[in-house]
Amino acid sequence: MKVKVDQDKCIGCGACVAICPQVFEMRNGKSYVKVSNTDLECAKEAASACPVQAISVEA
Ligand code: F3S
Repeated sequence: MKVKVDQDKCIGCGACVAICPQVFEMRNGKSYVKVSNTDLECAKEAASACPVQAISVEA
């Protein structure tokens, strides 16, 4: 699946990095996708945990 972060929506809460550090990392207070093509389930969990729905996960 493909993972994206909308940098304009991200408020830097850090939930995605806490849940799925293999895929997300913080850069300058925003989440950055390190590995956009992944099968890791935690990417989906991070998407649902994000308070501003900045993360999109496509099949
Ligand atoms: Fe940003 Fe949402 Fe992650 S606000 S830091 S993309 S949990």
